[in-house]
Amino acid sequence: MFHGPWQRHKDLVSIHDLSAEEVEALFQLAANVKARPERYRTALAGQTLAMIFEKSSTRTRVSFEVGMYQLGGLATFLSSRDIQIGRGETIADTAKVLSRYISGIMARTFAHATVTDLAKYATVPVINGLTDLLHPCQALTDYFTARERFGTVKGLTLAYVGDGNNMAHSLMFGGPKAGMNVRVASPDGYKPKPEIVELARQDAAAAGTTVEVVTRPEDAVRGAHVVYTDVFASMGQEAEAQVRLKAFAGYQVTPELMETADKDAVFMHCLPCHRGEEVAAAVADGRWSVIFDEAENRLHVQKAIMLMLMHRH
Ligand code: CP
Ligand code: NVA
Repeated sequence: MFHGPWQRHKDLVSIHDLSAEEVEALFQLAANVKARPERYRTALAGQTLAMIFEKSSTRTRVSFEVGMYQLGGLATFLSSRDIQIGRGETIADTAKVLSRYISGIMARTFAHATVTDLAKYATVPVINGLTDLLHPCQALTDYFTARERFGTVKGLTLAYVGDGNNMAHSLMFGGPKAGMNVRVASPDGYKPKPEIVELARQDAAAAGTTVEVVTRPEDAVRGAHVVYTDVFASMGQEAEAQVRLKAFAGYQVTPELMETADKDAVFMHCLPCHRGEEVAAAVADGRWSVIFDEAENRLHVQKAIMLMLMHRH
């Protein structure tokens, strides 16, 4: 039904764990799933996905739930406030118990260690649906969206402007695997974590691509093919919102900044976005914007991820 399954992987925790070939196989499968969804209607029949959420979600929750349904399976939403994790049951026990009922776990958590622990103790696949450190499903979708848009992305450049957060980290890990160069522009104090930059640079050296971190947005965006931004204050950082708004003055993606990118450049944002903060409305809703293609593609790419990890041969 599909080629190049990820046989050596039980989980999807980080794009850093995937090879370029595995990412390409995922993109080919996602393109097939998108073009011919009816072919996959029973691919995960009888299987179930537990979706654990410590944080809010619109896209991740709905696209995984609908995606599982479209593959013939069932998804069940578990708010951490309602399940026993919220009352102190350990991650290890939760992972072991869920593994006795269900076929896979998708989790959105604060601490990255919560997802790595779930993966360690669950006997079923665990998919990272966003942690404070990484957001692999979104970044894979974004590179898939770029590939769809440009045909091939090899040698093209993605410029990320703003907070060196979970999105910046996963985009830095995804670039080398998709064959794209990545330039991140963040103010001092909000740059991506050095250990992530170092790993991404090693991946880039092996792939023949580059990963650069700069300070000024214009140094990242000049000539770029994809211009990307994300909120200044992520989930869990609400108390810092005012301080961050000041720290990120000058980091808004404006039409003027977009004009310095490649003439065919697109604007991406994982969403939700704040028009007038990290992006001008004229960009988010303007001719460059592919934000709703990205949102749609979460469905197709995550169906492909579930097939790669959960389809029984
Ligand atoms: N981009 C993204 O993950 O959106 P949600 O927070 O709505 O899931
Ligand atoms: N950086 C954002 C991404 C939301 C999809 C957050 O973590 O809130």
